[in-house]
Amino acid sequence: MSGDARKRAEALAYLSGFGNEHSSEAVPGALPDGRNSPQRAPLGLYAEQLSGTAFTEPRAHNRRSWLYRVRPSAAHPKFVRTGNGRLRTAPFNQAVPDPNRLRWNPLPEPEPGTDFVKGLWTLGGNGDATQRTGMAVHLYHADSSMERVFSDADGELLIVPESGGLLLHTEFGRLHAEPGEVALIPRGVRFRVELLDATARGYVCENYGAAFRLPDLGPIGANGLANARDFRAPVAAYEDAEGPVEVVNKFCGNLWTATYDHSPLDVVAWHGNYLPYVYDLRRFNVIGTISYDHPDPSIFTVLTSPSDTPGLAGVDFVVFAPRWLVGEDTFRPPYFHRNVMSEYMGLIEGAYDAKAEGFVPGGGSLHNMMSAHGPDRETFDRASAAELRPQKIDDGLAFMFETRWPVTLTPHAARADHLQGAYDDVWQGMERHFRPAR
Ligand SMILES: [Fe+2]
Repeated sequence: MSGDARKRAEALAYLSGFGNEHSSEAVPGALPDGRNSPQRAPLGLYAEQLSGTAFTEPRAHNRRSWLYRVRPSAAHPKFVRTGNGRLRTAPFNQAVPDPNRLRWNPLPEPEPGTDFVKGLWTLGGNGDATQRTGMAVHLYHADSSMERVFSDADGELLIVPESGGLLLHTEFGRLHAEPGEVALIPRGVRFRVELLDATARGYVCENYGAAFRLPDLGPIGANGLANARDFRAPVAAYEDAEGPVEVVNKFCGNLWTATYDHSPLDVVAWHGNYLPYVYDLRRFNVIGTISYDHPDPSIFTVLTSPSDTPGLAGVDFVVFAPRWLVGEDTFRPPYFHRNVMSEYMGLIEGAYDAKAEGFVPGGGSLHNMMSAHGPDRETFDRASAAELRPQKIDDGLAFMFETRWPVTLTPHAARADHLQGAYDDVWQGMERHFRPAR
């Protein structure tokens, strides 16, 4: 949490492109030439494969990396259970699934000494982590950098900072993520979060299912939405640190801890395509109507976790980025909607064009399966009467985790003090305009 740390973060170099085969070495000669596992790896390093997909998954979706490290990951002591804090994991079956529209204010201030892991607060989710299906919605609020290292066997983590910059020290190197950017940490990859400001607050989608990928583009063509080249992967950087390091491992819903005698962030070189990324949401190429009507918000999908059913996502990550609205004879804000998919929305900055008030940065709303939602009364009245000139929406950055199954809350989310009591009121008093005969 110093200017120096931010300077170091801003000076980081990256490799470009989502899903690419990359290679990187922090020390020249650390990568073996022409093979993955030579009899003796260069520089006395240990070779280790990290498989993010089954060995035999189709080549287009196969993800694995080879790591060349000071010590093999296998050199660790026994893990023992530690407290889960406010972190919960699917299956979520402690609270009754709620058909109501729900909205939360931001998380309260963290207790002093709260790091990223301790600051995780699970809102809810679906599926079953042990079956590698479904997702969880977490929020975080922290005031301390992690001294320990974390990895999540249950899913990949899409981290969406809303306040406070993050410097992510991963096995593959370092990533810098500020509000407006997102970081994607693959399942099982170890990392430590250093705060670049006094506090850090944001959202996390824990995806138990198939790894996020870029959506197909269909008739849009070869470019657009999130462009692959704008995803940045780290270059190799390692910690050659002896001495006790706590490593926390999330496994099938519980946190386990072990004290290593070295840092496991000791990867000197790597190659492969199973990598963490950072992506600037402002790079999103927003596509929308240039004639009339409002395309479905699937057009705003940044990343998708496909299910076994074509076109049906376990979870989509969707962004409502700055864009022009030009539709003629069109109600321009998001339409009234009931959806078989369930929608958790968060706000990174500014305002969202369907909600005049009450939806604030750091807060969130949940519109579960088939719950009726849409613009609030004030937004409806204004947009129905607005003169339809080209209009730039550039005062907000909202996002959605849209998932195939209803989101069941954790008991602490269902009873939270920061749950708004009167969210339904934004749709009260919708005037009757119907006149059967003129
Ligand atoms: Fe919706």
